[in-house]
Order: sequence, then structure tokens, then C-alpha cells
Amino acid sequence: MRIDVLTLFPEMLEPFFSASIVGRARAAGLTEIVCTQIRDFATDKHKSVDDTPFGGGPGMVMMCGPVFDAVEHVESLDPRQATRVLLSPQGERLTQATVESLAGKPRLLILCGHYEGFDERIVEGLNPLEISIGDYVLSGGEPAAAVLVDAVVRLLPGALGSDESAETESFADDRLEYPQYTRPREFRGMAVPEILLSGDHGKIAAWRQAQSEARTRSRRPDLLNKAERPASLRIQQRWA
Ligand code: ADE
Repeated sequence: MRIDVLTLFPEMLEPFFSASIVGRARAAGLTEIVCTQIRDFATDKHKSVDDTPFGGGPGMVMMCGPVFDAVEHVESLDPRQATRVLLSPQGERLTQATVESLAGKPRLLILCGHYEGFDERIVEGLNPLEISIGDYVLSGGEPAAAVLVDAVVRLLPGALGSDESAETESFADDRLEYPQYTRPREFRGMAVPEILLSGDHGKIAAWRQAQSEARTRSRRPDLLNKAERPASLRIQQRWA
């Protein structure tokens, strides 16, 4: 999978994309991630990428020209059709189902906004999926791009140490993960649940499932009511 990230701050993202699971996946050739500086596509001598809003008001708005030129240039570098994503607090809230769907695409193009937002014609003309990582406002789309890329890349086959780990994680089945423990058996008076030391794999599996259900019920009951979730957010097919 190729992932292009169009940003005014590639220096925020490059170290992130070079570390940990994402960095390892790149090094292993599972994904190619390329950051492109939108300012390189500015056409005036000040290298402007934003301007004041028509109609007045505070802040600056990202201009169409440099963004369209950057998108068209980057898309011409690879024949695979890119799924365009624009990160914005106005987008559809990111879920694991959306992440799974994006992980099945051959190519993603992620646009990070800054300032007061994008000229609306960028949304109209480029028709991207608009995605928000939560109901709060960031200074720009870069932290959201880091979140999205991390969530997608770790699902690419071979990105995690063992294929099983992605399957049992929180949200993989609309359930939160059961609690985990490692050595020592007792720490500051807190003991590991006896059943995990029993060696009885059937009982351990049943305990974990019960823990997973109870946690989901108490912390995220909304996950149990799948019927209440919009159809667009439900997992249709794992790699669709
Ligand atoms: N840009 C600013 N805030 C954002 C958010 N919550 N999600 C995605 N992109 C953003």
C-alpha cells in the first residue's frame, strides 16, 4: 500500500512514520509512506498557501490552487487509484470499521488542514472522505494523520508480530479487550487472577470472554448496540 500525506508540516510526521510498527512496516516494504509539502505548490513569491476568508472573520483559509496542484502531482506519481481522505473535525468520526476498510485500499492520499480550514471548493472538487478522529479541535490535521496511518498500517498483513494479535484486540469484534497480566505474579500486594495461572486453556478462554463482555458493558455499552450504529460504520467485509 502506498500512503501519501499532504501537509504544511512534514517535519511533524516524518519521525512518527519512522518509528515503531509503522517504521518497521515501511522498512519491510509493506507500505510506502511519502510526505509532500503543500507549500512547494504555492505559485507566488511569498509561497502563500492560505488567505483571509471572503465575507470577513478571523483566521486564514487554505487556498485551492496549491492543494489541487499538490494532489494532482502526487496522484500522477503512481498509477494506482488513490482513496482521498481529508482530515477535519467536521468529518465522519473514525472507527475501527473505517480503518479496516481503508487498510484494504491499494493507495491512500491524506490531506492535512491547517488554519481555519480549507476553501470549501477543495472538498467539492476533490470529493475526499472527510474523517475526524474525535469531537475536539486540533491545531491541524497532522496528529490526526499520525493516528489514521498508525491504525491502518498495523492492520497490513505482516505488520504485527503475530497475526493473532490484531484479531483479539479491542474493537476487533466490537468488544474491548480482556485484562492482561505478566510477571511477577504479585506486585505491591496485587495478585494475578488465579485462573490465568491454572494452565486450563478452556477456563482461561471463558474467563477472558466474560471479562471482555463485562468491560464492554460497563465502559462502552454503545458498542453492544450495533443496531443503533449507522450502517456506513459497520464492518461489511474485513478487507473491503
Ligand atoms: N483537524 C483539526 N481537528 C481535527 C480532528 N478532530 N480530527 C481530524 N482532523 C482535525
